[in-house]
Amino acid sequence: AMQLTLAVIKPDAAAHPLVVEALQQKILENNFIIVMSKRLVWRRQDSEKFYSEHAGRFFYQRLVEFMSSGPMRAYILAREDAISHWRMLMGPTKVFRAQYSSPSSIRGQYGLTDTRNTTHGSDSADSARREISFFFPEFNAEEWMQRE
Ligand code: CMP
Repeated sequence: AMQLTLAVIKPDAAAHPLVVEALQQKILENNFIIVMSKRLVWRRQDSEKFYSEHAGRFFYQRLVEFMSSGPMRAYILAREDAISHWRMLMGPTKVFRAQYSSPSSIRGQYGLTDTRNTTHGSDSADSARREISFFFPEFNAEEWMQRE
């Protein structure tokens, strides 16, 4: 079924205009509709709030530091099975795994480290709802789905 997901180009990739261009092209080639998009920079507290479920993990500090280190691009994407399709395109979180087993995935191609891994994507319908309203509080998902 038609589904919305939240996709983010993280600061490592958003710093490179050609990488942003290539990723946007990949989004469109994969028949996603770009419903909304924006460029934004997080304060550290935004980063801490968004990733609060990871508080206490060994990578939490470097993650929140990194995600508030520079501009990002956020997208609301729509498509059949948008959540799993975007996650399939991203490939695995861990960069060694992405490069070894999914070299043509986004993280396989552009991922630098397990933290600086190019993109984010919602992992479930509940996360998608939460994350879309975190990035785009003004967006009304129910209304948009009815129009489609
Ligand atoms: P993301 O999909 O945004 O969700 C949580 C993020 O934490 C993840 O991508 C990575 O950026 C980061 N992360 C997850 N696991 C690790 C890890 N083992 N080491 C470092 N960073 C990680």
